[in-house]
Amino acid sequence: MAGLIPDSFIEELLGRLDIVEVIERRVPLKKAGREYQARCPFHDEKTPSFTVSPQKQFYHCFGCGAHGTAIGFLMNYEGFEFVDAVEELARLVGLEVPREAASAPRPAEGLYELMATAAAWYQEQLRQSTEAIDYLKSRGLSGEIAAQFGIGFAPGSWDGLLKELGTSDRHLGLLKRAGLLSEGKSGAYDKFRHRIMFPIHDRRGRVIAFGGRALADDGPKYLNSPETELFHKSRELYGLYLARKSEAKLDRILVVEGYMDVVALAQFGLRNCVATLGTATTGEHAELLFRAADEVIYCFDGDQAGRKAAWRALEATLPRLREGRQARFLFLPEGEDPDSMVRGEGADAFATRIDEAQPLSEYFFEYFTEQVDMNSIDGRARLVSLAKPHLDQVPAGVFRDMMLERLGSLARHRVEGRLESRAPRGASPSRSGPPAMQRTPMRLALAHLVQKPSLASAVRDMEAFESCDLPGFEIYRELVDFCAKSPNMTTAQLLEIWHDHPASSHLGKLATWQLPADEARGVREFRDAVTGLELQWTEERIGRMPKIVELGPEDRATLLALQQRRQQLIGELRDASP
Ligand code: UTP
Ligand code: MN
Repeated sequence: MAGLIPDSFIEELLGRLDIVEVIERRVPLKKAGREYQARCPFHDEKTPSFTVSPQKQFYHCFGCGAHGTAIGFLMNYEGFEFVDAVEELARLVGLEVPREAASAPRPAEGLYELMATAAAWYQEQLRQSTEAIDYLKSRGLSGEIAAQFGIGFAPGSWDGLLKELGTSDRHLGLLKRAGLLSEGKSGAYDKFRHRIMFPIHDRRGRVIAFGGRALADDGPKYLNSPETELFHKSRELYGLYLARKSEAKLDRILVVEGYMDVVALAQFGLRNCVATLGTATTGEHAELLFRAADEVIYCFDGDQAGRKAAWRALEATLPRLREGRQARFLFLPEGEDPDSMVRGEGADAFATRIDEAQPLSEYFFEYFTEQVDMNSIDGRARLVSLAKPHLDQVPAGVFRDMMLERLGSLARHRVEGRLESRAPRGASPSRSGPPAMQRTPMRLALAHLVQKPSLASAVRDMEAFESCDLPGFEIYRELVDFCAKSPNMTTAQLLEIWHDHPASSHLGKLATWQLPADEARGVREFRDAVTGLELQWTEERIGRMPKIVELGPEDRATLLALQQRRQQLIGELRDASP
């Protein structure tokens, strides 16, 4: 999909915006010399090792190795696809994203518009239906909250939406792809009929799916959009867009089971609530939740199904419990849900329940100790064998250590954590940095070029490298050519234009290398790297010459020249070294 947006636009976009501004909106930055610093949003740490370079227009974390451009940052941080990140950034600087003329329109293009039109039409139908309005009133919904959530109504007819939107073949095709039609023997008809319609928004606020609640007792109580190009229910949460819009960074986020629960809680002023979409909580959900807030509270029915769903949520959460993140569980009395509770006891009482929700650790041990006989050795051994594999999922750190300790004291036997990820003292608790790449002349030369393309003018000539087949040389040659043509590019522009190149991730890593800040020293180091490269190639060629006794006069001359060149290069490097 990346190819559909012309490189020239990516270049212009990255030239206009400032990565510092993009990141600052999400992660507070502090100026430190020529760069900006923060505690890394991608891993847990106490001291800041996340840096943003305005020169390179590039971010990098020395702790966990995360790095990239403003586009990459949005993809990582917000979970955007490439095209979405580009569109979001373009909006920020007021640019229109062009599409390459020759290519087909972006597949999802018409779909978003269609979903928006459908949502507007459902809302219009709600305004005209006293039956639907009365139903919502009977459930206590205010008109204001219904409007905020974009709630609508699908009338009972078989082809209301179809007639409105699907008359042309193109629209019929789009409606099918959007999951808004059902297919019968005699053709397609409206999937949603006689239902209250809840639009589901993606993280950018676009309608990507619907949930429809039956008004009468026909068919399932809730009907959801099928999986489509736009909608993957394991990755979406109902209400997340609105919750995040209400506050930039939420302290806590409450996860409930139903659409109506989210809407009712919002009406009572609890705006930090989302719902899974009729599925179990996935790891992707848990990650999204923790990005929105450091504390996640899962709220479930107290019945068997609710308990089962809660445990699934716990399992999805354990691997994401890095330091600073917390999860808790709130079980409601049987037969109640957040909607009925908040209406019954009011917002304050419900908020108190949230405050008193059970910490994950407590729920975790309760879950297991109820299953075994804690008075017998066998039972306690079983406790360890049941609980231990789950704790191994938790990232190494204080929390995991404490959980292991607690398990040990319950079992009355010391329990060791899994060995491989026990962090050494003083190291970052959840991750150690990436292994360092050795600084070979080739890598160093590439690193300098990526970080400062104008250095290409310091490359003398390529003649000495004729037919060079050192590993990586082709990339070097290509990069020198590229940089010579675009000396004023930032690292970010270069990397995004090289995005589809096989070497792009290698270059991305080299962009994180720390090189001399001093300009003259940088140039010298780059020149030395190139000299070192030529020395390598010269030695390689000498090594490939036939044995002395087999040399003809021409070969002898070549060998002599190579040996002289080698001495010269060694001399240059010696003079250069301080
Ligand atoms: P519930 O059955 O608890 O309904 O389903 P609810 O949310 O309390 O709805 P009201 O108050 O009766 O209107 C919880 C969630 O499970 C999914 C929906 O996402 C629903 O919000 N669900 C439920 C379905 O997908 N299909 C169904 O048939 C029922
Ligand atoms: Mn309900």
